[in-house]
Amino acid sequence: MTQQQENLTAKKQRICQRLSALGQAHICAYLEQLSEAEQDAMLRQIDTLDLSILDPECADEQRGVFTPLYATTLEEIDRNRSRFTEAGLAAIRAGKVGAVLLGGGQGTRLGCEHAKGMVDIGITRELFIFECLMNNLRRVTEQAGAYIPLFIMTSVENHDETEAFFAEKNYFGYSKEHIRFFRQEQLPTVDPEGRLMLSAPGIISTAPNGNGGWYASMENTGLLHELRQSSIEWLNVFAVDNVLQSIADPCFIGAVIESGHVSGAKVVAKADPDEKVGVLCLEDGRPSIVEYYEMTEEMRTLREPDGNLSYRFGVILNYLFRVDQLEETLNCKMPLHKVFKKIRYMDESGNTVRPEAPNAYKFETLALDLVKLQKNCLAYEVEREKEFAPIKNKTGVDSVDTARELLRRNGIML
Ligand code: UTP
Repeated sequence: MTQQQENLTAKKQRICQRLSALGQAHICAYLEQLSEAEQDAMLRQIDTLDLSILDPECADEQRGVFTPLYATTLEEIDRNRSRFTEAGLAAIRAGKVGAVLLGGGQGTRLGCEHAKGMVDIGITRELFIFECLMNNLRRVTEQAGAYIPLFIMTSVENHDETEAFFAEKNYFGYSKEHIRFFRQEQLPTVDPEGRLMLSAPGIISTAPNGNGGWYASMENTGLLHELRQSSIEWLNVFAVDNVLQSIADPCFIGAVIESGHVSGAKVVAKADPDEKVGVLCLEDGRPSIVEYYEMTEEMRTLREPDGNLSYRFGVILNYLFRVDQLEETLNCKMPLHKVFKKIRYMDESGNTVRPEAPNAYKFETLALDLVKLQKNCLAYEVEREKEFAPIKNKTGVDSVDTARELLRRNGIML
């Protein structure tokens, strides 16, 4: 046996021991069908994967005691609008504000082949989701007379096409120097029995690790080093798929800064008690988000003396974080959520399967869990019709059709 073969055998033994202990012996059996070179490549990939997620100990966290959290309401904001806005604009002009676009999702419900931001939702003209966001951001930079550094998180799969798309569209009129792209990490996916899957011959299937790890991914890609040397003190984090997303909103930023809170979340009043939206609340006294399926009947229907729902304010994935507080979260382990999705895989005959319905689990950290690591969070109410037009599904609720209708109502030509 050559030295190389000995090394390969030792590596295979080490990795297969670990895989077998985690109930993944089928991968070891599969390895045996491969040539030495293919085995070597596959073992190298496995060595880069975080297999600890397969450990049953690493399950969803236990929740604490929830209590309502009150928001700065539309009326309060209206009364203070000019003061908040001036404070926000001053922060932007001083270079204290950056924005982070979370664009690493797979958009499996919408079923897009490319990055979701590349979807054209125009009717009589081209209007890309990214374009809607960049138009919204440009409105603020024009008002402030200063650029806001924009960090765009991508996935391994859509990184190159996202960068190329922005370049092809001339950065939608934004300053190229103020845009940085960074990749998020991947985690293995598993079938309903918890078994690792293959995405192609000799390759374990992986998927982006959720939207909660964006700050850690900025660290891993070296961007935090740059951020620390910059004047940025606040980061506005937002989802790619809300085409009415108000980015680096000066009034929101000013309100959070004036309040002395270390974070803020844009929220909308729930349309009815059963609306399927995560609600900003307190959990064991800390800001947190309770998912609609975690709410008891009592929580869903509890009302304040004025008749409003106590758990009333739904989050829209638009948060403001103070950078020095985010630094402290880098050492915290964020909970991993198992999400059942449509995941492309290779079957036993070597055919690629593109499932029509959810078939496997991916593991995600969630941005909302980052809120829980903050000392406090200002809930800031916004008008749903003006700021919330998410595109999640092909048809029906939160689809291109509903988003178009909301864009129209806001005077945007399609
Ligand atoms: P969603 O939770 O809607 O997930 O993302 P998704 O992957 O885009 O879509 P589905 O569930 O497969 O249909 C909310 C936001 O978080 C980003 C998305 O790009 C979107 O802006 N996200 C999600 C990431 O950046 N990375 C992820 O791993 C997941």
